[in-house]
Amino acid sequence: MTKYVIHGGKPLFGEIDISGAKNAAVAIIPAALLVDGICRIENIPQISDVTLILNILQELGADIRTINRTTVEIDCSHLRNLRVPEELARKIRASYYLIGALLGRFGSAQVPPPGGCDFGGRPIDQHIKGFVAMGAEVDVQGGYIHARAQKGRMSGTQIYLDIVSVGATMNIMLAAVLADGMTVIENAAKEPHVVDLANFLNSMGADIMGAGTDVIKIRGVDRLSGGSYSIIPDQIEAGTYMAAVAASGGEVLIKNVIPKHLECITAKLLEMGVEVEERDDAVLVRRTGKLTRTNVKTLPYPGFPTDMQPQIAAILCMAEGTSVLTEGVWDNRYRYVDEFRRMGAQLQVDGKIAVIEGVTQLSGARIRACDLRAGAAMVIAGLAAQGTTEIDCIYHIERGYEDIVRKLSGVGADIRVVVTPDEEKQAQVS
Ligand code: EPZ
Repeated sequence: MTKYVIHGGKPLFGEIDISGAKNAAVAIIPAALLVDGICRIENIPQISDVTLILNILQELGADIRTINRTTVEIDCSHLRNLRVPEELARKIRASYYLIGALLGRFGSAQVPPPGGCDFGGRPIDQHIKGFVAMGAEVDVQGGYIHARAQKGRMSGTQIYLDIVSVGATMNIMLAAVLADGMTVIENAAKEPHVVDLANFLNSMGADIMGAGTDVIKIRGVDRLSGGSYSIIPDQIEAGTYMAAVAASGGEVLIKNVIPKHLECITAKLLEMGVEVEERDDAVLVRRTGKLTRTNVKTLPYPGFPTDMQPQIAAILCMAEGTSVLTEGVWDNRYRYVDEFRRMGAQLQVDGKIAVIEGVTQLSGARIRACDLRAGAAMVIAGLAAQGTTEIDCIYHIERGYEDIVRKLSGVGADIRVVVTPDEEKQAQVS
C-alpha cells in the first residue's frame, strides 16, 4: 500500500501553480468523439481520472497522440466500436459522458453504469430523461446502458431538468450539438466546467448559447471539425490549496486561476479571518491570526461548491467557536467524519447538517481517505495537526490532484509518499 506521511504544524510559504480542471477535462475528452478531425486539447491535468478516460477512448479506436505533459491530440475519425469497456468505465463517474457523446455522433451507445465517489445514491435519471426526450430509446441489459436514437440522429427539443445537475446538463449538451434542430435545456447547471465544455464545442463549430445561465440553447449542426482548445484552471484544486494555507498559516500565491470562479470560496475564508487578495490570474492567501467560526451551505454554482465541503470542514474543525455546515447537493457526503475524530476534531452529523466545535489543535493520526475531496481534506488536516498523520487509500486523492505532494512540498509542507514493504515485496515477485 502507498500512503502519505505528513509531519504537520509547518506554515506554508511560496507559490503553487494550478492545473487544468478535472471536471472539465473528463467531459471535454469524451466530447472529442463528436469531432470529425484532429482535436488538440491543452492544459490537461495529469491525474488518474484523465488517464482512464483517455484509455477508454483509445479502446474505442481513437488515435491519441501525446504532444507534451499537458497536451494531447485526439482523432476519432476511425472509431472501431461503440461499446465502452466495463472494467474501465466502472472506475470513473464521468464515463456517463460517453453516452451523450456516442449518441450524438453515432446515434448509438453501450456504456456500463458509472462508478466514482460514493455519496449515497447517484442517479442519472435526468440524463436519461433528456436523451429520451430527444428521441432515444434507453434500457439496461446485461449490466450495460443501451441507448439508440430511434431516427438514427438525435432530435432537438425542450428539456426541463427537475434538479440542477452538472452531469445531465453537460451530457444533454453533448447529445444535442449534432442533433436535428434546436435543444433548449432549462434549469441548467452554471458551473465553470459547463461553460468550458460549451466553449470547447463552439470552438469546434457547435452553436451553443447561454452556457453559464440557467437556459442553454443548442442549435444542432451537421459536423464539428477539428481545432485547438485549452482547458480552464481547476476551481476546486485552487480552493483546496487556499484551504491548506488557511489551515496551516503562512502566505502562498496560488497562480493560474480565474479569481471569479473562486469568489464563493474567498468569501468564506474572509469571514473566517483569512486574508485573500485577488490578482489578474492569481490569488494571494495569507493567514496569520486565529480562524473564526462561520456557517457554510453547499449549493450549485455560484453557491459554495460541494466539492469544497470536506476541505472547509477541515478548517472549521480548528476555528474558534461553533460552525454549522449544511450539505445542499449530496445525500451522504460526511463519510469522513470518523477519520477527523481520530485527529481530535469535534463534529456531530445529523443528515445533511454537521455541527463543528472548533478545537485549538488537531493531532496526527493514522487515517484513511474515503473519497477524493475527503482525502484532500485529510491532507489539509494533517498539514495543520501536531505530530504525524498517515493517510491510506491515497489513490482516491490521485484521481483528482496532480502532483499534490510536489506542490505542497514546494511551499514548505513536510509530506511524502511512502510505499509499505508489502507492496515492495509484491512488486519484486511480479
Ligand atoms: C459533478 O457530479 C461532479 N463530477 C462532482 O464532483 C460534483 O460533486 C457534482 O457535479 C456537483 O457539483 C464530475 O463533474 C465528474 P450532479 P454529477 O448531477 O454531475 C442529483 C468531485 O469531487 N441528480 O450535479 O454526478 C444528484 O444525486 C466530484 O470532483 C439526480 O437526482 O453531479 C445530486 O444530489 C464528486 N438525478 C445532485 O443531483 C440525476 O440524473 C447534483 O448532481 C443527476 C443528478
